[in-house]
Amino acid sequence: MRNVLVSSDLDELYQRCADALTSFGAESISAAGQFTLVLSGGSTPGKLYELLTSTPYRERLAWDRVHLFWGDERCVPPEHAESNFRLVQEELITPLGLSQENLHRIKGELESPEKSAAEYEEELADFFRLQAGDVPRFDLILLGMGADGHTASLFPSDNSLQECERLVVATRSTHGGVRRITLTLPTINHARQVFFLISGPDKAETVREVLEGSRRGVPLPAQLVEPSDGELRFYLDQPAASHLSDWRPGHGLQ
Ligand code: 6PG
Repeated sequence: MRNVLVSSDLDELYQRCADALTSFGAESISAAGQFTLVLSGGSTPGKLYELLTSTPYRERLAWDRVHLFWGDERCVPPEHAESNFRLVQEELITPLGLSQENLHRIKGELESPEKSAAEYEEELADFFRLQAGDVPRFDLILLGMGADGHTASLFPSDNSLQECERLVVATRSTHGGVRRITLTLPTINHARQVFFLISGPDKAETVREVLEGSRRGVPLPAQLVEPSDGELRFYLDQPAASHLSDWRPGHGLQ
């Protein structure tokens, strides 16, 4: 099931995403005693993380039951400016005083990207008590999307898009820079909930292609996110939604 929710401005976008995240998280904790939440990097989610540390969102979740994971990471130490862990540490972990045992970061600083990916697979296997061939089922995975259609660190035309065995792999950005570690599509598509959080006019054409484009060509990574037994939501602001066919300026999606 796929839902597209368009917000009139950034405040509403973050509030709607925070409302849904905390309400689903509370349901997960009430049903299973924990909430396994996968977070994203990039510039978009920082305000969401900050909002989650403020009233009323802070009070809506038993944060000691929330386990944080990362959808991807750069191959840098956790204190590095490009670290996705550092982003979450500054905006969410430190303000909420979350304990170490609830943090399951990707150790991008290990001796090789392949070692970092393998180590994270072991972390997931331990936490979810996976048997050989099992795929972890996260409660909620938060994703962003680049203007090229990448998500997490799954980039267009990369071999990682064909990976169907591994849970976590090492990749490289098509924009150069440091190596990356990313959850694979089998892992992402096994989640209960997947939220895309996308804002800005520079994403509008890619959003249209992902939501309305043909699948005949080479699909964009974000088009390959299709939970097999879960819900997929696109949280968009108006500029990001503005190329969608049923978009009417000032009236959202009809
Ligand atoms: C990362 C993210 C990446 C991000 C997109 C969008 O590690 O950077 O996982 O997939 O979500 O690049 O980034 P913005 O939010 O900055 O547009």
